[in-house]
Amino acid sequence: MSSTNTPPRLESRDTAMSLYHLLDPEVLANPYPLFRRMRSEDPVHWDPFLHAWVVTRYADVLEVLLNFSADRTPNPAQLDEMGLSSLNPIARVMVKQMLFMDAPAHTRLRGLSSKAFTPARVEQLRGHIQDIAKNLLDGLQARSAGNDEDEIDVIAQLAEPLPAIVTAEMLGVPTSDHAQLKQWSADFAEMLGNFQHNPERYPRVIGAVAGMTEYFQDAIRQQREHPREGLIHSLLTAEIDGDRLTEEEVIANCIVTMVGGQETTTNLIGNGLLTLLRNPDEMTRLRNDLSLIPSAVEEMLRYESPSQHTARMCPSDREMGGKRIQKRQAVIAVMAAANRDPERFPDPDRFDITRKDNRHLAFGYAAHFCFGAPLARVEGQVVFEAILCHDHPCAADAGVALEPGLARAESIESESTRGRARRRDISFRGAGKRRSAIRHKICSASRLSVSRARTRRGRRAVSRQIRRKN
Ligand code: HEM
Repeated sequence: MSSTNTPPRLESRDTAMSLYHLLDPEVLANPYPLFRRMRSEDPVHWDPFLHAWVVTRYADVLEVLLNFSADRTPNPAQLDEMGLSSLNPIARVMVKQMLFMDAPAHTRLRGLSSKAFTPARVEQLRGHIQDIAKNLLDGLQARSAGNDEDEIDVIAQLAEPLPAIVTAEMLGVPTSDHAQLKQWSADFAEMLGNFQHNPERYPRVIGAVAGMTEYFQDAIRQQREHPREGLIHSLLTAEIDGDRLTEEEVIANCIVTMVGGQETTTNLIGNGLLTLLRNPDEMTRLRNDLSLIPSAVEEMLRYESPSQHTARMCPSDREMGGKRIQKRQAVIAVMAAANRDPERFPDPDRFDITRKDNRHLAFGYAAHFCFGAPLARVEGQVVFEAILCHDHPCAADAGVALEPGLARAESIESESTRGRARRRDISFRGAGKRRSAIRHKICSASRLSVSRARTRRGRRAVSRQIRRKN
């Protein structure tokens, strides 16, 4: 090959290590080789395609989350200057959300909000979550029993509705609204850290913001007349030294809390179940000792972090990993890479439900540490206990041999920092008595279905599907 055809080394390395590869479904399905390469070859990497630094080592991610600025969303005046005034309705909400603020504004907002979301309230929700999980799992079982091909879509029928219903309970609005809340959250999540420009989607996000604002205005009006336990009422009444939140602040932070708790928890359930299915020995260990569930959920959070990265701005010119980062340059902290850093976690690519000293960064770190982490943990614990304890069919292949699986990625439309959308098909075939074909179609954050064919006709249909996929 002539030298003119060979791209300069730096350029090819930049191309190879860009986070843009996460838009490739194959990479998104298993981003860890990319993260490993970045961590070992260029742990503080300038990504020219994203115009941002990408930080992948545990120690550096910690430093970014601790000391860099979270004030990263353009305000309406800046959008006007950029000729993007149409996005002002979104910006007006985002600048009032705790996720995009630094101290002291963040400290004030977070302080008032935590008054509204106490550990006691989370414990109180545990019972409701158990009921919700049981109802959804019973529904799955009933549906699969009456279905020849016995297909269970774990994401659509469990991992998505559960956080949506819990979110409605947590806010104190009717649970029957959960599908609408889920849809708005999915639309709004487009704006949270998505590094793809999708102008054609902006009207949808603007519509979602208008819908949510109106919805919460109504809810606030109702709650002023008929108070109902939940975050909306607690935020309305939270007070520290006479300071209270304005109605706009209540709405903006109801939105960020609602959005923050959905796709992430869906990913925890979907990826957690997938990881157990891929690690049958760990699944059996867990099934035999349910007291390991809290530790197993922590390991799921580390091993397949539901929220893979977040962004900050550099607060002043400084050096990190031998690189000079300039004030107000964007920095992407990849928690999913930090959580697999061998410098911090021995044998990081091993899924070990009894891992000790598992201080992962899946919920972030420092001032912005996930506001809903106690609730997310309870949701994860309750769901996995319900699945394993009742030997639910969606985890039925603990004793089933996993054939070399087909991990085929389908297209994804976007990638957001708040969750890793991925799609794969993996085929399983049962052994011994349970010689049923089992197909797992996985799209964490979108779809994970398990089909078990009990009848001969059903088995043939599934086998055909698997052959076609192969
Ligand atoms: C497995 C589930 C979850 C994961 C992995 C997760 C992850 C995270 C992460 C990484 C952050 C920090 C982002 C940053 O520093 O830029 C965060 C913040 C936040 N999360 Fe979660 N989250 C989860 C569930 C929830 C739930 C259930 C709620 C709502 C009850 C929630 C509400 C929030 C809020 C409001 C913030 C902003 C906190 C602040 O800025 O002070 N999250 N979450």
